[in-house]
Amino acid sequence: MLNWEDPFTAAAPAAKAHEAPQAADVASEAEAGSAGSHAPEPVLNVEPVNPDDKRVVNGMTDINQLAPFKYPWAWDYFLNANKNHWTPLDINMSQDVHDYHHNLTLEERHVYTNVLSYLTTSDILAMRNIGLAVMEKMTAPELQIYQARQVYEESLHTWTYQHCIETIGLDQSEIYNRYRVVPAINNKIQIANRRLDTVLRSDINLHNRDDLENFLMAYIFFAGIFEGCWFYNGFSPIFALQRRGLMKGTAEQLQYIMRDEVLHASFGIRVAKQIMIEENITPDPKAMKDMWEEAEAAEQGYANYILRDPILGYSAQDHSEQFRYIANRRANKLGLEEPYPGAENALPWLDEQANLRKEKNFFETRVTEYQTGGALNWD
Ligand SMILES: [Fe+2]
Ligand SMILES: [Fe+2]
Repeated sequence: MLNWEDPFTAAAPAAKAHEAPQAADVASEAEAGSAGSHAPEPVLNVEPVNPDDKRVVNGMTDINQLAPFKYPWAWDYFLNANKNHWTPLDINMSQDVHDYHHNLTLEERHVYTNVLSYLTTSDILAMRNIGLAVMEKMTAPELQIYQARQVYEESLHTWTYQHCIETIGLDQSEIYNRYRVVPAINNKIQIANRRLDTVLRSDINLHNRDDLENFLMAYIFFAGIFEGCWFYNGFSPIFALQRRGLMKGTAEQLQYIMRDEVLHASFGIRVAKQIMIEENITPDPKAMKDMWEEAEAAEQGYANYILRDPILGYSAQDHSEQFRYIANRRANKLGLEEPYPGAENALPWLDEQANLRKEKNFFETRVTEYQTGGALNWD
């Protein structure tokens, strides 16, 4: 049974309210006062925070005062995020165990394990980036509130992959170490580390234009490419299996994750755009072009590795073309030039497949009962 008593009460009983302070106590307080620890002067006539004074970065308003909002949309993201509740334990994985060991081909197992290996490493990185590099630099609390939720969601995603890996009975040390030994996975992680590590410091001065530009580029990479393209695209090989009736439990887990990730990417893009407006800064087009090219080459290498032998209904070409198509969507949202004009939607089924509708749930689980996010905007 829980003990609700204050544990400190028993160890050091507080003086009773009616007991007058002893003369010795009063004397020692007076001594402390004369040593310099003055009580703070009461502050009078302090105006509430004016929302117009808030800034995404470099703001000077009180970070502990939530409202009035300057960015009410950020609060809406937080409310929307809270409509997508699940834990990996809510989803039945028993058919996946059977599928993996009896129904998947060797090529499909290769796809499945490498996708999990890439995603789980990436989600740890995402959690650290948003929590340690981005959130602390925000100067409006309504932005930090959603990012705090995002940190939690990234850790929930890591739990979900771990649950799949454990349930299927995969070799954990081998799967988790794969990003170090498979060059095509390692390359994506190294790019992310290089682009994000430069802002994973607390001594950055965002009043300095070079530091600010570097921070903006890192945030655009994180929201627009790392989450917006690589993650978004990263789930589709498993959805292709799901379409054929395979690994449906894992796919359902990924549908929940994807729902979070769509919000993460669009929130980050919105924050990046707001920084551009408030700080009067635009990314260098040449630097953006280089960023897209590097990301595309890495994604192509990754697709060629995980799909070196094509599986039914999904190919490396599909994966790479879809990356380019999604990249254009993200660039449009950022108000930047499309990197791949004319790229085609190679997976027209993806948006619908990714959408988690109650009637599409394959298992009657507890999730559907408290799933209330039917009205989320998916773009
Ligand atoms: Fe995530
Ligand atoms: Fe994310």
